[in-house]
Amino acid sequence: MSKHIALGVDIGGSGIKTAPVNLKTGEFTQDRYRIPTPDPSTPDAVARTVAKCIAKFSPDRKTAIGVAFPGVVQHGVVKTAANVDDAWIGTNMRDIIRDYAGHDVFVMNDADAAGYGEYKHGAAHGQDGVILMTTLGTGIGTALIVDGQLVPNTELGHIEIDGKDAETFAAESARDRLGLDWDGWIKNLQKYYSTMEKLLWPDLIIVGGGVSKSHHMFLPHLTLRAPIIPAELRNGAGIVGAAALASAEHKKAEKRRKDDDKKSSKSTTR
Ligand code: BGC
Repeated sequence: MSKHIALGVDIGGSGIKTAPVNLKTGEFTQDRYRIPTPDPSTPDAVARTVAKCIAKFSPDRKTAIGVAFPGVVQHGVVKTAANVDDAWIGTNMRDIIRDYAGHDVFVMNDADAAGYGEYKHGAAHGQDGVILMTTLGTGIGTALIVDGQLVPNTELGHIEIDGKDAETFAAESARDRLGLDWDGWIKNLQKYYSTMEKLLWPDLIIVGGGVSKSHHMFLPHLTLRAPIIPAELRNGAGIVGAAALASAEHKKAEKRRKDDDKKSSKSTTR
């Protein structure tokens, strides 16, 4: 694979999607490949499927690979799991996938991947300032990007408002579960986004998730200070962002290695 291409993998509750991404344009260089998420979605079963998705594109050793996961992922270790098996909690996802795929990967939260994808190649392309990305789906995922720097694992979908976890009343899934019409859901969204504004003062809010296709039904009815706009990359954002973040991490690691080599060669020539 050319050095301008990285592989993005997005693990969701129903499907695992993968594509090679052109890091200059954010476009897929080949058709996306999707395999249904195994049930039960245990670490071994999912890692085996992720390995299959990776193998499909035969990446070489140097290709950066990013894997997005629906939960908190801190330094390679899964801390929470949403819509996938709880057996993930406490596991080192990076190690498990490396064992199955025979390739090093960078792992991250799914909303972080989607937010970074929108920052790099979508609705917030290259925009500075404080950007809040929210994905409205079964839950609410969030990403916070400040002057191009991602603050990982923000989990602002779980903020407590009126004694309730926000995603229980403002996620897309809450519409059906609570039997809300658009007006009822818009009221809940208003409460959620007003709280976000009060606490974060974002310069831009992006709304992703399947329902963002129908953004004209709800976004124009929200009253906020910051512009609130639909995501552009739709369900490709996670793949694009996973690839882009993995490539950025790859470059950082490479630089660290070179700096260390320089330091050690200096100390041996002394
Ligand atoms: C989880 C987040 C995840 C989001 C979207 C939430 O319930 O806590 O980690 O990003 O769902 O999958």
